[in-house]
Amino acid sequence: MNGPQNLRAEVLDGVIGRLTLDRPKVLNALNRETLGELDCAFDGMLRNEAVRVVVITGGGEKAFVAGADIAEMAALSPMEAREFSRRGQAVLDRVERGGKPVIAMVNGYALGGGLELALACHVRIASSQAKLGLPEVGLGLLPGFGGTQRLVRAAGMGAAAEWILSGEPYSAQDALRAGVVNRVVEPDQLWEATRALALKIAARGPVAMRLALEAMRRGLDAGPTEGMQLESDAFGLAFATEDMREGTRAFLEKRKAEFRGR
Ligand code: CAA
Repeated sequence: MNGPQNLRAEVLDGVIGRLTLDRPKVLNALNRETLGELDCAFDGMLRNEAVRVVVITGGGEKAFVAGADIAEMAALSPMEAREFSRRGQAVLDRVERGGKPVIAMVNGYALGGGLELALACHVRIASSQAKLGLPEVGLGLLPGFGGTQRLVRAAGMGAAAEWILSGEPYSAQDALRAGVVNRVVEPDQLWEATRALALKIAARGPVAMRLALEAMRRGLDAGPTEGMQLESDAFGLAFATEDMREGTRAFLEKRKAEFRGR
């Protein structure tokens, strides 16, 4: 069986699963095949117990992902376009809800579906050269991979409306100010900064992180009252894990915890 044609999957430092979208001729644009490969490769990272954190990035210097593939999209019927949107949403939902922490390493253009992919990740670290935006309205479309929902949650209605209505690409610094990215670093430090954060995350309790991400996300959907209850349920559940016994014991014994994700 042939491997993926449009992305590279590798495990680095034994714990970091890195997925690099790699269609250089079209700035890593997402066609249906690439979405399928991303889904499949991400699933592989979820199933690989050694992988504690996933990094998603784009190949080459220029782009993270320049959006959905416009050439492929242009030929879609309305029903096919709805299906394409649902498929993209489902793949990105799994990135967000799969249970492992995911960092977007935004190395260049993150436009349209590319920014939507970055927004589905839990943390975004951007190169100072990156440009981010949702230019779909300039094509007579609107964001279709969750951008109308996730950008509002990340940046608030005012900023999200400006970004979506103007269709402009914004600088990494603008994105930082708007809360769209967590951090901006120089291009030559992007991997080291991402790796350092990934290794820090990889040393923490995997089950606890999974429960925390779930409480945060479900709380956002349901509102703070239900979110608080979900938090207490998850907090209680953590006390049933080996990781919790190990983490507290290691603290009391003044040693580093060795989490097994159980
Ligand atoms: N789909 C298909 N091809 C793309 C693409 C995309 N999203 N983005 C870039 N390309 C292709 C270009 O057509 C070009 O191909 P050729 O060499 O065959 O002409 C190649 O990649 C290089 O791009 P440019 O020559 O345009 O490079 P540039 O440096 O002049 O500009 C850019 C870079 C500003 C990112 C520009 O390519 C651009 O505006 N791309 C489109 C961005 C966009 O509109 N994205 C949203 C797509 S819609 C979407 O994502 C819907 C959704 O929500 C699901």
